Amino acid sequence: MTRIFSGVQPSGDLHIGNYLGAIRQWVAAQDVADTLYCVVDLHALTLEIDPAALRSRTLETAVGLMAAGLDPDRCTLFVQSHVPAHAELAWLLECTATYGELRRMTQFKDKGNDQESVRASLLTYPALMAADILLYDTDDVPVGDDQRQHIELARDLAIRFNSRYGDTFVVPRASIPPLAARVMDLQRPDKKMSKSTGTPLGTVAITDSPDEIAKKVRRAVTDTESGVRYDPESRPGVANLLEILSVATGEDPRVIASRYDAYGPLKSDVADALVELLAPVRARVAGLSADPATVSAALEKGASKAAGVASVTLDRARAAIGLTPRPR
Ligand code: TYM
Repeated sequence: MTRIFSGVQPSGDLHIGNYLGAIRQWVAAQDVADTLYCVVDLHALTLEIDPAALRSRTLETAVGLMAAGLDPDRCTLFVQSHVPAHAELAWLLECTATYGELRRMTQFKDKGNDQESVRASLLTYPALMAADILLYDTDDVPVGDDQRQHIELARDLAIRFNSRYGDTFVVPRASIPPLAARVMDLQRPDKKMSKSTGTPLGTVAITDSPDEIAKKVRRAVTDTESGVRYDPESRPGVANLLEILSVATGEDPRVIASRYDAYGPLKSDVADALVELLAPVRARVAGLSADPATVSAALEKGASKAAGVASVTLDRARAAIGLTPRPR
């Protein structure tokens, strides 16, 4: 059976970019693959985050994932730091990666801005991400387009480690959806929608009320050209709305575009589709938030399953690289 792993940072409210670009694929994979999904709290420490906020967001992110359809009986859902093997394998992979390749990652260049004060972990972030993936003998990693480069690095590190120390890791592939792989900020269609750096009015959270969704979509920035056409290159704002509607309805964005000649009716249909898509998620968030014990129990069970798989791979990697067996 195909093994699937993916993760999300607890760095803010889950939004429709996370949902359409990644989480929907995770939900669909639960019945056809062996799936592990992770709230990657260690990754959230690479930027400044208040400890109390990290604590509450970790649980809220797990709630959001379960509300979106991840079922702890059909997938392994857990918190990264509950399985210490992630941090340990990350070290072995930091000893496999080079400074040059880490420095060239676009995320480091964007968020690090070459500043001396930037956390060292922002540079080594992709080694930890590679550890997340490689620990589980992962075949496929369903992610949005922004993670493509990180997965390419995880592949490179797996291949390098295997050729240096012998066959140890499965070489993973990125699985990126054909549409909505990069949902753009509704206010800044040249920037991806983001938990940490998005504009408040341009980011639709999966828990937004119908009124908030309608307001944000109505005020979405489009362009001054007339007519509605699907052209992501030169008309990113309109293409973004068309892709959202396309994923919600299953219709091709070009076909959808041909039915409209003005933005007003398009926006109103996008808002309606999102409200309908998110209504059940929102209702389940309310239910699960009132029952944190159920969520914690699910995460505990997930961590113990994940740890069982991870320890086998970690031992294999430790032995391959020349570390002596741990005393029992
Ligand atoms: P994160 O937390 O930024 O995002 C979680 C998932 O949502 C996708 N995504 C988007 N997709 C479409 N449009 C958008 N605007 C958008 N914004 C986010 C992301 O591509 C991602 O799939 N580094 C990862 C977390 C991570 C991880 C891993 C992922 C850590 N270890 C191992 C996969 C495997 C991140 O920051 O995702």
